[in-house]
Amino acid sequence: MNSDLAQPTPPMGKGTLSRQLVARVTALVALLTVVLALFTSLATYQILQREQDGRLQVAVGRLNPDGDHGPGDLTGSGLIRIDGRNGTYLLTTTLNLNHEAERQLLAVSPSATPVTIRLDGQGLYRVLVKTQPSYTLVALPLSDVTKPMTSQVVMTLLLSAAMILAAFLAARRVVEASLRPLNRLTAAATQVSTLPLDHGDGQVPIRVAPGDANPGNEVGRVGAAFNHMLDNVENALAARHRSETKVRQFVADASHELRNPLASIRGYAELTRRSEEQLPQDAAYALGRIEAESDRMSALVEDLLLLARLDSQPTLDLQPVDVTEMVLNAVSDARAADSDRRWSLNIPDHEVLASADPNRLHQVVANLLANARSHTPAGTSVETELSTDGGFAVISVTDNGPGVPTEIQPTVFERFTRADVSRVRQDSGSSTGLGLAIVAAVMKAHGGEVSLDSQPGYARFTIRVPLA
Ligand SMILES: Nc1ncnc2c1ncn2[C@@H]1O[C@H](COP(=O)(O)OP(=O)(O)O)[C@@H](O)[C@H]1O
Ligand SMILES: [Mg+2]
Repeated sequence: MNSDLAQPTPPMGKGTLSRQLVARVTALVALLTVVLALFTSLATYQILQREQDGRLQVAVGRLNPDGDHGPGDLTGSGLIRIDGRNGTYLLTTTLNLNHEAERQLLAVSPSATPVTIRLDGQGLYRVLVKTQPSYTLVALPLSDVTKPMTSQVVMTLLLSAAMILAAFLAARRVVEASLRPLNRLTAAATQVSTLPLDHGDGQVPIRVAPGDANPGNEVGRVGAAFNHMLDNVENALAARHRSETKVRQFVADASHELRNPLASIRGYAELTRRSEEQLPQDAAYALGRIEAESDRMSALVEDLLLLARLDSQPTLDLQPVDVTEMVLNAVSDARAADSDRRWSLNIPDHEVLASADPNRLHQVVANLLANARSHTPAGTSVETELSTDGGFAVISVTDNGPGVPTEIQPTVFERFTRADVSRVRQDSGSSTGLGLAIVAAVMKAHGGEVSLDSQPGYARFTIRVPLA
């Protein structure tokens, strides 16, 4: 499974859409705020400056006190005034001006609008000089303008910062809230991706909540589409499950129906054999073949029927089974039936109780032993071992025959898998390719498992059954 899906990125994680949205909204608000702050500050500066210039104009007498710029109250500290009459200059100020400052002031040439100069010992000053009808100079400190400006800029900066922070928090909340349904959708999709859809009746019991599948918004539409997709998947799986069930039922019915005619064929063959002496030789041979093949077919039909039953509803007769005794009997049977191989046994001296269906478990071990007999040459050693391991009885059948051909190993537990048919036919006429499929199905029904380990010259089948 995809590990990205198993561990979804947290909502505000690196590179997520939500994070990008928040970052962009915050950046936009920050940009606007800064531009706004800059414009406000500039405008304020200009207004204050123009107001001060107006006061200077009033002071030199160019404007009425009740003119555009309001009364020129020039009694404030920092005012400098020089009136010149008949070659003498009268300086009026509360400041302590040095000679250099006085010289700088007198050097200012008359103009229609005030000019800014750096006055020695006093800082920046706005100065306005007129000569008509007589010499008049007024000057006001620029700090009258810059001081309120500074506090205004500080205020603006603080406000801007607060606004950016507020925008960030609000964007985060909004984005989180609007993407929350998407996160729930991700969670649902992750859940679906962990469902074992390859078996079972095809139910997909997960849906996005109706509130998250509201087609009125984009995320809701995704949710609705997701639910439709799941409906579709569920329907398809259910249809497949139904047709599989039908096929299984058909195989079970067909196998069942074949039993009776097969029994008749075998019965008639046996009946005919009683008068064997009167039969021509080739008819006797044909009769032998009929018997052998109908036996093989009966075995095949029984295997198919058993598999069909294990598929549909595995009805096991579970009870405590003494596996030690069962393995001992199975190996004794094999030894009695076949003296061409060396059958050895390695079992504990106490009983091992497994929770199993005794007939089925016996069939499984018998199948493994039969394989060790029919797929190995004479003289092969077959060792059967029993042990326990973590709540399981472990039975293994190991032989030093040719081993299971590599090309069929991956599918050896599937139905009708067997090595090259022509080769097998020579060895044994009873190969159906169902033996190991039955082993696997029975073990699965028991909640156990079967595994194969094989190389050329060696094959080991191991089954694990839960202990009682
Ligand atoms: N002990 C074994 N050694 C070598 N090959 C084996 C062994 N057991 C099984 N096989 C291979 O696995 C195939 C499938 O086995 P099985 O399902 O029992 O079918 P069958 O025995 O009817 O052929 C066999 O045809 C054979 O090729
Ligand atoms: Mg077999």
